[in-house]
Amino acid sequence: MSENANKLIHTFGALAELGHEVTNKSNFQDTIRTSLHLLLGSLAIMRGGVARYSRFEHELNMLAVRGLGDEFPLSFSLCDEDERQFLTNGLYPIEISKAGVLPFFQVHDQTFDPAKLQLLLPLVIRDETVGVVFLGEKATGEPYTDYDKEIICAMGRHIGGAIAQRNMLSELERRSDENRKLYENLRTTYSDTVKAFAAAIDCKDKYTEGHSVRVGKYSEIIGAELGWGEDEVEGAAVAGYLHDVGKLTVERKIINAPYRINAKESAELNKHPAVGYEILLPIHHPYTDVPLAAKYHHERLDGRGYPDGLYDREIPYIAKIVNLADSFDAMTTDRPYKRRRPANEVFEDLQRNSGKQFAPEIVAALFRGLLKELNGESGEKRFRKLLGREYMETEGLAPMLKNSLNGMTPTSPLTMISLD
Ligand SMILES: [Fe+2]
Repeated sequence: MSENANKLIHTFGALAELGHEVTNKSNFQDTIRTSLHLLLGSLAIMRGGVARYSRFEHELNMLAVRGLGDEFPLSFSLCDEDERQFLTNGLYPIEISKAGVLPFFQVHDQTFDPAKLQLLLPLVIRDETVGVVFLGEKATGEPYTDYDKEIICAMGRHIGGAIAQRNMLSELERRSDENRKLYENLRTTYSDTVKAFAAAIDCKDKYTEGHSVRVGKYSEIIGAELGWGEDEVEGAAVAGYLHDVGKLTVERKIINAPYRINAKESAELNKHPAVGYEILLPIHHPYTDVPLAAKYHHERLDGRGYPDGLYDREIPYIAKIVNLADSFDAMTTDRPYKRRRPANEVFEDLQRNSGKQFAPEIVAALFRGLLKELNGESGEKRFRKLLGREYMETEGLAPMLKNSLNGMTPTSPLTMISLD
């Protein structure tokens, strides 16, 4: 076999290996390093390097170098003339030794010996320059032939392709990062809007100031205690914040009546779940059950709630959570015509109504959350902030909750808890 044929087989072998390398290696740096070694090895070139071109910084940043010495710069700033030549050359080797070529070698000649390099190949992929390959002299000391240059261009196409692919990936990552930030901003805006709404709802009812906000927080605690994921827990909080949004359309004098309202007024007030549902339905919530929580937060497991008198399994789960949070807040805050009830009474009542008005596992979740805080097992003092120190320091509260958690059954006698 002739020497030329041998050379041909050798270089085609290297090309095939390079193609394999570029398509299979997941580590970009490794791909470039191995590609450079293959290129140098296939033509017995003493030294070389691969750099990525940064259009915005007007720089070349080295990705891999071999045999160029420690003093070889890791990045080059391109002056206008360099950049112009470099960008308009196309994918064809530039001979560095020719006078006047690429002045940046003169700019950087303090730090390395330009004589070490003979060729420079701009890597142009789909009309875009993505990098450059630097090549030193051949081991034989002979000049580069046209045939060598063709091989170098073919290999350069592979290396350029790998860099272009990486650039595309980086751009995708950057965009997805931007989208993530945008999404987070949107979520914050949504969450702030929800809280503003809750504050607006609470403003209307001067006797139950902060009610919606507290119901949101209790719902959030319950969701977390039920082992829900972050998004669902946030959904529970939003459902709590907005559950009474329908009250915005109820006359202020009915909401603020300092006495027990009559049947007619009560009928008016009882429209608020359905109205709330209508208000929330057209909004695109990240948590689709939010309108259902508003509609069914006055339903009871035993079918004695309103507006539809649904039974246990017919009631959306989120509505059961908000129902408990709502009742718990109603029992633990002062109302115009009645003081809040003592802690032990409230917990007995919730236990007794577990399985009747409330879902037992939801009551258990609330008790667990509270017990954890009383035992110092939860980082935050959320209940303390919502209920007040005095309430939380009720004597014997922790053992009582522990007992309740052990002894809760769905067969306790039926009692009604009035929600105002
Ligand atoms: Fe309500």
